[in-house]
Amino acid sequence: MKLNLGCGQNKLPGYLNVDKYDTCEPDQVADLEVIPWPFADASADEIVMTHVLEHLGRETETFLGIIKELYRVLKPGGQLQIRVPHPRSDGFLGDPTHVRPVSPTIMSLFSKRNNRDWKEKGWPNTPLGLYLDVDFEILNTNFVLMPRWMQKYQAGTMTVDELGEAMELYNNVVDEIHMVLAKVAA
Ligand SMILES: C[S@@+](CC[C@H](N)C(=O)[O-])C[C@H]1O[C@@H](n2cnc3c(N)ncnc32)[C@H](O)[C@@H]1O
Repeated sequence: MKLNLGCGQNKLPGYLNVDKYDTCEPDQVADLEVIPWPFADASADEIVMTHVLEHLGRETETFLGIIKELYRVLKPGGQLQIRVPHPRSDGFLGDPTHVRPVSPTIMSLFSKRNNRDWKEKGWPNTPLGLYLDVDFEILNTNFVLMPRWMQKYQAGTMTVDELGEAMELYNNVVDEIHMVLAKVAA
C-alpha cells in the first residue's frame, strides 16, 4: 500500500488518498490528528505528505503521536516523502492553518543514530528517536529556492557558501523543503 495523506484535491494514482474533508472526495476520510490511524502496522511501502505536516499537531504531544503513527504504519525501509513550506517564508506565515514549522533540523531529532552521536558529543538536542522509540534516517533534502534567489544563483553572482549564508540570515530565500526519510527497522 502507498498512502497520500492530506491529499486535498491532488490525488495520486496508485495511492490510497486520505483527507479529513470529504469535500475533496478522498479514497478514505480520516483525521490524522486522531490516533491511532486506521492503518495496520507495517502496511505502507511509502507515505506522501505534500504540504500537510505543517498543518498537524499544534499541540506537541499530538505532533509526536503523528510521528509515532508514521513509524508504526511504514514498513521497515519504507519511505516518507515530505514537502513543506520553508518556516521562514511568506508561504508558511501566510496561512492560519499552518500550526508548526517542519524542517530537516526538526526531523533529524527522530534518528536514533543522531541521538546516540549527539549524546557522545554532549550536545543538548532532544533525543526524540530514543524517547519515542522511532527511527527515521533522512535520505535526501532539497531546498527549492524562491525565483529571485534561483536567478541570482544561476547567473553565477553568488557562491554556494553565500547562498547558504543567505538561507540562514534572510526570509523568503527558500520556498519549499523536500525531504525523503526512511524508516529504520527496530
Ligand atoms: C495545503 S493542503 C495540501 C493538499 C495536497 N496534499 C496538495 O498537495 O495539494 C493540506 C491538506 O491537508 C488536509 N488536512 C489538514 N489537517 C488534516 C487532518 N487533521 N487530517 C487529515 N487531513 C488534514 C487538508 O484537508 C488539506 O486537504
